[in-house]
Amino acid sequence: MTKIVTDKFGRPIRDLRISVTDKCNFRCRYCMPKEIFGDDFQFMKREQLLSFDEIERISKIYASLGVKKLRITGGEPLLRRDLDQLIARLNKIEGIEDIGLTTNGLLLKKHGQKLYDAGLRRLNISLDAMDDELFGSINDRGIKTSQILEQIDYAISLGFQIKVNMVVQKGLNEHEILPMARYFKEKPVTLRFIEFMDVGNDNGWNFDKVVSKKEILKTLETEFKLSPLDPAYYGEVAKVYKHDDADSYLGFITSVSESFCSTCTRARLSSDGKFYGCLFAMDGFDIKTLMREGISDEELTDVVTGVWKKRDDRYSDIRHEISEERRNARKKINMSYIGG
Ligand code: GTP
Ligand code: 5AD
Ligand code: SF4
Ligand code: SF4
Repeated sequence: MTKIVTDKFGRPIRDLRISVTDKCNFRCRYCMPKEIFGDDFQFMKREQLLSFDEIERISKIYASLGVKKLRITGGEPLLRRDLDQLIARLNKIEGIEDIGLTTNGLLLKKHGQKLYDAGLRRLNISLDAMDDELFGSINDRGIKTSQILEQIDYAISLGFQIKVNMVVQKGLNEHEILPMARYFKEKPVTLRFIEFMDVGNDNGWNFDKVVSKKEILKTLETEFKLSPLDPAYYGEVAKVYKHDDADSYLGFITSVSESFCSTCTRARLSSDGKFYGCLFAMDGFDIKTLMREGISDEELTDVVTGVWKKRDDRYSDIRHEISEERRNARKKINMSYIGG
C-alpha cells in the first residue's frame, strides 16, 4: 500500500534519482575539471558504493511512499559493472512505472542492447556541441561529437526514446544552439537546452555565464516556428515546445530564470547511499549506514518518511536572494556525486 508523504511545502515524493558511480570517462570542465579530478583523485571504493541489493531495497521503500519514476545517473552510469542486472531488478518493483538513464552516451554501443533487454526504454544523453573540436574541449577528453552521434543512432535503432541535454554557457557554445536544433529536428530525439547552473563548487559559475531560456528561444525563433505545450505531468522539469512544421520537440530546463522548486518531487540518492533533498544541498542523510547496521524495512520506511517530511529545500527559488559571497561560501555537493 502506498502512503502519500509530503514535505514542508506539501510536495509529494514521486521520483528517485539514483547515482550508481562517482566515476566518469569524461572530464567536462563544468562538472569534473581535470585539475581536481586528476589521475590521483580518489574515487569511491567498491565497498563504499551502494550494492545492487541495497539500491533495490531502498527503491522498494521509496516506491511504497509514492515514487513512480527512477532515474539512474552517475558520474557516468554505464561505467557501473552489470548495470543491466540492476535495471532488470528495478523494473520488477511494484509501483515503478518509468526508469530513465542519464548518460554521456559513449558506451551505448557496448551496453545498449543489454540495457534494452533488461527493460530500459528511456535515455537522456548529454551533448553540448555539434562541432567536434569544441565538444572535445568541453569534455576535455577529445571525444568527438561524431562518436556520440553514432551511439545515438545506434540507440535509436534499438528502439530507445531519447532526449539530448545541451548545457548552454555564454561565450562557449551559444553559437551551437541552431546547429544542434537543425540536426535533432530531423531525428526522433527531443533536444533540451539547459541553463547553466551553479551545481557543486568547482565550475566557475556566475550569472553572467547563464544563457536564459528567453535568449535561447529568441535565437531559435530566427529560424524555427515553435509552439509551447502544456506540461505533460505535475512537476515536469522541462518546458516543451513543438516545431509547427514537424513532429519534433524541443525543451528548456530553466532552473535559473524560471525555477521549478514549488513542484519538485525529486529525492536523490548519492552513490555512497546518502539521501539529498536537493541538487544544491550541502548535507545528505546517510541511509547506507543504517542499512548496513541492520535496520528493518519498517524502521527504514519510518526514517525516510521523517526525512522527507522535514524537507524544505528550494534553492533555485531563492538563488537570487543569496549574496555572491554567501553563495560561494556554501559547500554544495558536486554534480558527479549526485548526478544532476
Ligand atoms: P526526464 O524528464 O525524466 O526525462 O529527466 P530529467 O530532465 O529530470 O533528468 P536529466 O538527468 O536529463 O536532467 C536534465 C537536467 O535537469 C540536468 O541538468 C539536471 O541537473 C536538471 N534537473 C533535473 N532535476 C532537477 C531539479 O530537481 N532541480 C534542478 N535545479 N535541476 C534539475
Ligand atoms: N548546469 C546544468 N546542467 C549540468 N549538467 C552537468 N553540470 C551542469 C550544470 N552545471 C548536466 C549534464 C547532464 C545532466 C545530468 O546535467 O550535462 O546532461
Ligand atoms: Fe561526466 Fe556528465 Fe560530468 Fe561530463 S557532465 S564529466 S559526462 S558526469
Ligand atoms: Fe528541487 Fe532543489 Fe532543483 Fe529546487 S533547486 S527544483 S528544490 S532540486
